Amino acid sequence: MCCEKRKSACAMKTITEKIRQDAAHLTSQEEETLRRAGSIIRAGGLVAFPTETVYGLGGDALNRESSRKIYAAKGRPSDNPLIVHISRFADMERIVSEIPEEAVRIAEAFWPGPLTMILPKSELVPTETTGGLDTVAVRMPAGASVRKLIEYGGGYLAAPSANLSGRPSPTTAEAVREDMDGRIDMILDGGKVGIGLESTIVDLTARTPQILRPGYVTAEMLERVLGKVDTDVTILADDSGQAPKAPGMKYRHYAPRGELTLVAGEPERVAAYINRQTAEDGAGGERTGVIATQELLGKCRADVAECLGRRCDEEDIARNLYAALRRMDEEKVTKIYAESFSASGFGTAIMNRLLKAAGHRVVKV
Ligand code: TXA
Ligand code: MG
Repeated sequence: MCCEKRKSACAMKTITEKIRQDAAHLTSQEEETLRRAGSIIRAGGLVAFPTETVYGLGGDALNRESSRKIYAAKGRPSDNPLIVHISRFADMERIVSEIPEEAVRIAEAFWPGPLTMILPKSELVPTETTGGLDTVAVRMPAGASVRKLIEYGGGYLAAPSANLSGRPSPTTAEAVREDMDGRIDMILDGGKVGIGLESTIVDLTARTPQILRPGYVTAEMLERVLGKVDTDVTILADDSGQAPKAPGMKYRHYAPRGELTLVAGEPERVAAYINRQTAEDGAGGERTGVIATQELLGKCRADVAECLGRRCDEEDIARNLYAALRRMDEEKVTKIYAESFSASGFGTAIMNRLLKAAGHRVVKV
């Protein structure tokens, strides 16, 4: 006999299956894998899968038990709502009470893709999925496999990033396995993701559309389609004052275990500061790490160095960021220094994640 308590205590077996994220034609084996993953979701189980942004941890969004399981697997506070992933625009009708004209316009411009919209929810969506809110976050991810999975899983997948709460989001199946092995039924391994930072979230319930989380789709891109767009002030500001409008953004997110400090300033001075600090930390018995672009990294000394790519390539920097933060944990680094970036365009998303990971610890040199 296995009571509820014992069931959660005994780890389940997590199977991993390979899948290509975006193939024009899926092999019959891939089809079979996606069907199997879909049945697991329809039966109330959990499957992690690659999206163009980060790996998601999917369950049936319309089944309150599945949402409870997602929170339990992630160790996530249940007031932090989940994004509902759909595969066809028409499917939105059942889960939202009203589709404003702005939603149609931005779906045409950015879906399938890294954009989530917040809309008033319909009765069909359990409050377990929306963390008690009367709004719902909806996204149509890019990639043929993920959309097939959504379809086979019943059309509505609640999927947060597939990390343990508070850890950097996974950008590879190995990172998912690190956090979720024994906690979920299946991992679909589609290799490294393309974007590496979570989707842009735009709230369409406000009078003026408002960005709650910056991502690959920038404010400028949204403004071209919607006209004026506001941005939640807490995106780059210190956490102290106002509460962020996306409940999840209030948590110390994306954080490595070591103490992370962002160092801003002219490269020579940044390198000099980092080298002074790592020498001092090292002498004090700390294990030091630096996360920086190729140009700066060559000038820095630390026990562990993680390269984000070239300074001019923001897309590469975003794609490598979470893996770099995770590597610092693997290497048991206790003091980490990271380069700071310009917070405009896609750089806003990079700086938003870095500032959160650093708990807003920034040194200007
Ligand atoms: O790129 C992504 O969006 C990834 C992939 C897997 O699709 N998903 C993701 O989910 O980042 P998650 O759960 O890690 O982040 C969802 C964010 C949280 O900050 C949450 O508070 C916010 O969306 N959110 C969800 N529903 C909301 C709502 N109704 N109102 C305001 N914020 C909401
Ligand atoms: Mg997340």
